[in-house]
Amino acid sequence: MLISEFAKNKDIDFKNKDEIKAFNQIASRILNFQAKDLITKWDYELSKKEVTNFSKYWHRFLQGMPLAYITNTSYFYNSDIYVDKRVLIPRLETELLVEEAINFSKIHFSKEIPILADICSGSGAIGVSFLTEIENAFVFASDISKKALKVAKKNYERFDKESYSINHGDFLKPLIKSQIKANIIIINPPYISRNDVNISESTIKFEPHLALFCEDEGMFFYNQFFKLWKQVVNLEKPFMIALEFGFNQKEKIETLAKKHLKDFKWEIKKDYFKNWRYLIIS
Ligand SMILES: C[S@@+](CC[C@H](N)C(=O)[O-])C[C@H]1O[C@@H](n2cnc3c(N)ncnc32)[C@H](O)[C@@H]1O
Repeated sequence: MLISEFAKNKDIDFKNKDEIKAFNQIASRILNFQAKDLITKWDYELSKKEVTNFSKYWHRFLQGMPLAYITNTSYFYNSDIYVDKRVLIPRLETELLVEEAINFSKIHFSKEIPILADICSGSGAIGVSFLTEIENAFVFASDISKKALKVAKKNYERFDKESYSINHGDFLKPLIKSQIKANIIIINPPYISRNDVNISESTIKFEPHLALFCEDEGMFFYNQFFKLWKQVVNLEKPFMIALEFGFNQKEKIETLAKKHLKDFKWEIKKDYFKNWRYLIIS
């Protein structure tokens, strides 16, 4: 069957941008085309196996599964990240945390090896993007989900083994146990309250709930952080800690920061969508 016939059979609506994008990306995943080349491949003859796979993936798209899970790829900051249902799909707003870390590293660690800790690392997107840019760095990644760590391992395989370590455990405990004092710490923890109703159906249905929700109305990890953070950072050198939080948590984060960070420089920043999103401590 030709691709053009397949598209006709499936009743694909080429006026619908989402359908065009999905069709292109699924085709490029199954057929190893560049998505942009599809336009020149309409007379490509699909094998039986390709028709079966294409149908299966198209069905998933129609069921609402995010394209990143269907194609097992999410482009994040500067890298293709392998993702599947074991991990959260890295979000655009998280890219700014990576940018902060890279800029800080270039300014303060141009002649030394910076140690970056990526806590609650999920797919590893943050650490992988950082290492891609700052090649002499060391990244300590940790997560409580063993399934997520398997995904992270796959993503880190592109680097030398000496440049990273992947660790299992609860929040800051693996880092405390390692006795490593990091220069840069990035934390994107679960921060959605279990009562929050502003979450998309697709997120609830497909993404791991362990990556999304936490106790104390989404504040659990920040409360923990302020009890433990001085144990894991190298306070003798320039340091930077960046935490991501929910768009409606600014006031609570600010209250914690005012209470616990009297002797430190900190600021709260907005994301690309103009939502308050990060606490940066230095
Ligand atoms: C919001 S996701 C962030 C994933 C990744 N850093 C990113 O930005 O795409 C939160 C991650 O925290 C992990 N997590 C949940 N509870 C944890 C805990 N108690 N300790 C460590 N990691 C935890 C989840 O498994 C998930 O991978």
